[in-house]
This record gives sequence, C-alpha cells and structure tokens, in this order.
Amino acid sequence: MTMFETAKNRAKLKSSGVIDSRTLENSHKRLREIIRPGMTILDVGCGTGAITSGIAKVVGVEGKVVGMDNNPELIAKAREKYKDTPGLTFLEGDIYNLPFYNEFDVVTSARVLQWLAQPQEALKNMVKATKLGGKVIVLDYNHVKIKWEPEVPKSMKYFYDAFLRWRSESGMDNTIADKLSGMFKAVGLEEVKITAQHEESMRQDKDFQTHIAIWAGVASVKGAQMVSEGFIEEKQREVAECDYKKWIEEEAKRQFMYLLAAEGVKV
Ligand SMILES: C[S@@+](CC[C@H](N)C(=O)[O-])C[C@H]1O[C@@H](n2cnc3c(N)ncnc32)[C@H](O)[C@@H]1O
Repeated sequence: MTMFETAKNRAKLKSSGVIDSRTLENSHKRLREIIRPGMTILDVGCGTGAITSGIAKVVGVEGKVVGMDNNPELIAKAREKYKDTPGLTFLEGDIYNLPFYNEFDVVTSARVLQWLAQPQEALKNMVKATKLGGKVIVLDYNHVKIKWEPEVPKSMKYFYDAFLRWRSESGMDNTIADKLSGMFKAVGLEEVKITAQHEESMRQDKDFQTHIAIWAGVASVKGAQMVSEGFIEEKQREVAECDYKKWIEEEAKRQFMYLLAAEGVKV
C-alpha cells in the first residue's frame, strides 16, 4: 500500500457525536464572519453536513452551497438530514480531484487537511475551484500543542503519542495548523491571514463532555485500527480508553486544542 492509500484508510471516519454536534457558529467561526447572503460556497470534507447546513442558512436562497466528502455513508446521512434545506447539495467526491473550475466565492475545508498525505495537492485543487477574487479558508489543528489539565493518565499519553506516530507514518502532518500560512503563499494565494480558533473547554461548560470524549472515541475507533495494523497492543489500547474515561469522570478540568483558520484570496 502506498503512503497515500494508507492515509486514506486511516482517515476514514464514522459519523460521530462530535462532528454531528458542530455548528458554523461554534466550530467554523472565521468562516461565519466572512460569508454573506447570496454567496456560492464549497465545503470539502463536509462529513455529515452539520457545519455546511449552517452555511446554507447564511447564504440563503440567493446563494448556493455544495458539501462534498469522499465517504459515501456520511454523504447519505447529510442528504437525508438536510434534504429540506434550500440551495444545499451534497456530493460524493475527493478533495484531490474536485470537478470545479473558478466556480465558488469561498472554498473551505475544516479539519480535513490534517488527514491527508498530500495536503498541498488538496489545497491546489481548492484554489482551482475558487473564483478569481474569491477566498480559500482552511481550518486545522496542531495536535502536538494539545493541553489537558490535569495531565491525562500515562496509558493515555502513551496511546496519544502512538496515535501521532501512526498518523505521521502515513504522511499526515500533526502540526499542519502552523504550516498553513506557508502553504497558502506557496499556491499563490494573496492577503493571507491567520486567525486563532483554539477550542478550549472547561469542566463547567455545558458541552465539556462532548469535547473531552473525542479522545475516548479516538482510542476506541482509531485505536482498533492501530491494533489491527500491529501498531499498539489491544491491552494497551483498552487500558488507555478505560483510564481516560475514568479521568474524565473524576479529574478532567480543561482541554485545549490548538486550531487555526487560514484564509487567502485567489488573484
Ligand atoms: C474530521 S472530519 C471533519 C468534518 C467537518 N468538516 C467538521 O469540521 O466537523 C474530516 C472529513 O474529511 C473527509 N475526508 C477525508 N479525506 C477526504 C478526501 N480525500 N476528500 C474528501 N473528503 C475527505 C472525511 O470523510 C471526514 O468527513
């Protein structure tokens, strides 16, 4: 299997509480500031369409929104859930092969480039789909800069480090958020701007459980993949998941995920 195919397998996502609970307002704030009624928007790697449906509400009936994802199950869910939203279409398709040329006012991709072995190629495709004078906006993490308070149990720290190695071994960049500015300039985008969009969640917040549980989900789903690929022992995975869930119940106070939005204009 090539590195490209390995990354594709490892990126495969099931619908999850976390992605389904995201909204444009709470999970793609910089995009919300940029878009206006009547605009045409492409959201690549839209998952089950939670953020995309919010985009459609803002651009309204005069606008047009396309959500695209390479996972047919997620696209089927998005179509079913948002079938009554006007101006919104969901398409199955790959970010490396977008069938659009100079077509959208804004092309966005949130939390997707982090899962790719060739993010620069993906970005070139996004630029191609954007109108002259339009904007590309990417939202992504630097997973090395995550912070938990207090520290997670040792078993989970071991799992997380293995998870980052498992990702980088297939060509994914764990620090991609901090590379976006250079990547944008390299594809000729101008007026490049970076905005901090960090996700900070405290125990007293009402959605704390949803945010903090993301890593229990990763230990379960991605962990199973890591075990089947011989990357970590099942026992280590199981202990990490179990210790982490106990830590959530008894100790967890704060989680900080480092997230940046990069935007640039196509000239
Ligand atoms: C972490 S989810 C993010 C979903 C949503 N954008 C959000 O911010 O909640 C990453 C999404 O990218 C999709 N994806 C991964 N590789 C892709 C590719 N090559 N082309 C299109 N979509 C891709 C996955 O199927 C998944 O739905």
